[in-house]
Amino acid sequence: MTEIISKQDSKSNGKIGVRVYIKDLSGHIGEEITISGWVDVRRDQGKMVFMDMRDMTGKVQCVVLPNHPEAIEQVKDVRTEWVLSVKGLVNKRPERNVKAGVLNGDIELEILHVEVLNKSYTIPFDIGGDTREINEEVRLKYRYVDLRSDRMQKNIRNRHKVIKFIRDFLDTESFIEVETPILTKSTPEGSRDYVVPARLYPGKFYALPQSPQQYKQLLMTGGVEKYFQIARCMRDEDTRGDRQPEFTQLDLEMSFVKREDVIELNEKLLIDLVTKLYPEKKIQQIPFPRFTYQEAMEKYNSDKPDVRENKEDPNLLAFCWVIDFPFFEKTDTGAWTFTHNPFSRPKPEHLEWLMNKENIGGILTSQYDVALNGMEIGGGSIRNHNPKALEKVFEIMGHSLEGIQKNFGHMMAAFSLGTPPHGGIAWGLDRLIMLLQNEPNIREVIPFAKTGEGKDLMMDSPSEISEMQLLELGINIKKSS
Ligand code: AMO
Repeated sequence: MTEIISKQDSKSNGKIGVRVYIKDLSGHIGEEITISGWVDVRRDQGKMVFMDMRDMTGKVQCVVLPNHPEAIEQVKDVRTEWVLSVKGLVNKRPERNVKAGVLNGDIELEILHVEVLNKSYTIPFDIGGDTREINEEVRLKYRYVDLRSDRMQKNIRNRHKVIKFIRDFLDTESFIEVETPILTKSTPEGSRDYVVPARLYPGKFYALPQSPQQYKQLLMTGGVEKYFQIARCMRDEDTRGDRQPEFTQLDLEMSFVKREDVIELNEKLLIDLVTKLYPEKKIQQIPFPRFTYQEAMEKYNSDKPDVRENKEDPNLLAFCWVIDFPFFEKTDTGAWTFTHNPFSRPKPEHLEWLMNKENIGGILTSQYDVALNGMEIGGGSIRNHNPKALEKVFEIMGHSLEGIQKNFGHMMAAFSLGTPPHGGIAWGLDRLIMLLQNEPNIREVIPFAKTGEGKDLMMDSPSEISEMQLLELGINIKKSS
């Protein structure tokens, strides 16, 4: 695998040879090699043509000298962003032209032969600078062009590193990654579901998961004990800078644990991740400070307080935990609903209130949220694995016994068939990566993000489907007048 990546064979009329990555060129001084990539910049000086070439590893200045007329002819029409394979001689630059501290600042590729792999019209916007200054709709429509810019490349590559770090860390801690279904059932997690019509069952729908909450709990019943997943979640809610209709969680769940175990593991993972991957960043306080919901509201008027001592410092990371949230709150209609997660266990000392359905507003949950610089980056709880107690939660929210059975019968059944005590958490990975990459919104760290209005401008989605598809699904669209 590594071998293929470090050297690639390019089959072409014998003139183009084994591909060398641009970052490795300085190891080939005096040799004829081939690079492949994009034309970053092109300067025609009449007798000589300069071209900066770019691949995923870096950039190098290339030059066609007047003594290679064949090559001059080949690059005559070449423009920026064309994709080329270039065969050339790696030369040391004369001392006066050396650019210190820059990759390949001391070498230059003397072009001998060029093969055009793909041409390009003038691209819709300049990717040489910080593309955040470009109209975002244009960037999203041509996201594949935007992704070529330095900053977006860093964002997607560092996103990969963060995810890999998490996977390796959790693997060492004996967690396994388990995939859970994308076509699932509508669940009461607080947002609107995206639904998918079931062709074989006209009138019935799957729902896309708002999170793998129920599946991960059922994996605990299934004896997995330590689960995680880099999980895609879908929620049909109004989008904002820190919200997308589909986003990614680090989702995890553990059996036989108390709140402290989950908090400790997650704190260690966050600290290790920042220390290893973002050494320039400073974590304000370790262990992370903790506030009860009440303290946070009184002191900061927020349940995701920004506790930074210096808000000007982009490298300061102020994590904190918020605990002891109320379990229930009143809706506009005066009914009770859950504040975070109906599957949470109340604090042990409040279990009796739940079982007796008394002092409902005073019941606190085992929920814990983790905030970073004023943003909620994660939340979880110890779960209610007692079917009777879970039933009470839904009763308080006004569900009938039949309703509970219909919607949550599978959870009740599982909790009556040997479910260990368990708890977990989910991080909003996009939000965490956004803060680590010093980006102003999560769209910058999501390769193919949607607009604030939930549109994918590149694919032009959502879109209509054909009459035939509607017919198959048994769906009639009501045209609004
Ligand atoms: P919750 O709904 O709090 O918990 O989600 C966990 C974290 O996911 C992030 N998040 C979002 N990020 C981007 N766009 C969105 N629309 C969005 N919605 C949420 C937040 C949030 O803290 N199943 C439970 C977790 C658990 O109890 O284990 C859950 O999903 O950073």
